[in-house]
Amino acid sequence: MNDKICLVTGANSGIGKATAMALAAGGSKVIMVCRNREKGEAARDEIVRDTRNEYLDRMIADYSDLRQIRRGAAEVKAKCPRLHTLVNNAGAYNGKRTLTADGYESTFAVNHLGYFLLTVELLDLLKSSAPARIVNVASEAHRNSHINFDDLNLENGYSGWKAYAQSKLANVLFTYKLASKLEGTGATANCMHPGFVGTNIFNSVKGIGRKIVRLITPFMRTPEKGADTVIWLASSPEVEGITGRYFIDRKDKPSNTESYDVAIASRLWDVSEQMIRAAS
Ligand SMILES: NC(=O)c1ccc[n+]([C@@H]2O[C@H](COP(=O)([O-])OP(=O)(O)OC[C@H]3O[C@@H](n4cnc5c(N)ncnc54)[C@H](OP(=O)(O)O)[C@@H]3O)[C@@H](O)[C@H]2O)c1
Repeated sequence: MNDKICLVTGANSGIGKATAMALAAGGSKVIMVCRNREKGEAARDEIVRDTRNEYLDRMIADYSDLRQIRRGAAEVKAKCPRLHTLVNNAGAYNGKRTLTADGYESTFAVNHLGYFLLTVELLDLLKSSAPARIVNVASEAHRNSHINFDDLNLENGYSGWKAYAQSKLANVLFTYKLASKLEGTGATANCMHPGFVGTNIFNSVKGIGRKIVRLITPFMRTPEKGADTVIWLASSPEVEGITGRYFIDRKDKPSNTESYDVAIASRLWDVSEQMIRAAS
């Protein structure tokens, strides 16, 4: 991975930080996407100290404002002649319904539109750097969900879990559609579930959910273990050319039935394009 340039989102904590650390340890140049400058700087310092790899850059973008993603992507394109790996990982769970600066429900916007917009903005650079890989961190939470096109902003009957699960199904549908669009380009797209990992993601869970999270916390994976399949998909020769798949623990697994519906994937792609265009 010595001559590779990798971009990892949500790289200041949890699975994203463990991924950035491992890719840097393997000799890659890593661009860390973080929403908070200080947290990003602290994580960068730690990774440089632990890996002795100085080639770590940061892109600052809060995904709840799509213009910040566009601006960050433009900076990356201006600075980097090549990009070999994009790991879309930044994500959030929101116990309460909130809207982004663009007026979209925050979970869908950050977890899906964020992945979508950054990827679309960097796609030409990835294709021209092929072989290139896109890894989308999804979740088993997608399994019992479906895309509610009539109410993507979840104005009715919001729950944190419903919003999170829908956004993670969107990650899987997006991956499969993206892989089909990338056929013949030398760029691949896969998604994965990291297991249940002890990170900050469920900090905003309240009530009974909070108690459940506390009870299962001692049994959760470390971020390093959760990042294992991400790092493998991002860097291993074993998955060279593999595309359009969903992985758990380095194994190709079926995702839910709706995720294979090509009409739904195409509709989600079109709606996502309209949503990012409306926010430009
Ligand atoms: N932990 C699990 O059990 C689990 C299971 C399945 C899937 N996942 C997925 O794994 C991915 C990483 O989550 P994690 O578990 O490592 O949690 P985490 O420690 O909370 O990391 C999430 C990262 O996303 C960033 N982020 C959140 N909202 C953002 C926004 N509006 N704009 C830009 N960045 C934002 C966070 O930045 P801040 O530090 O500034 O908040 C952080 O860097 C997520 O996509 C999640 O859905 C996690």
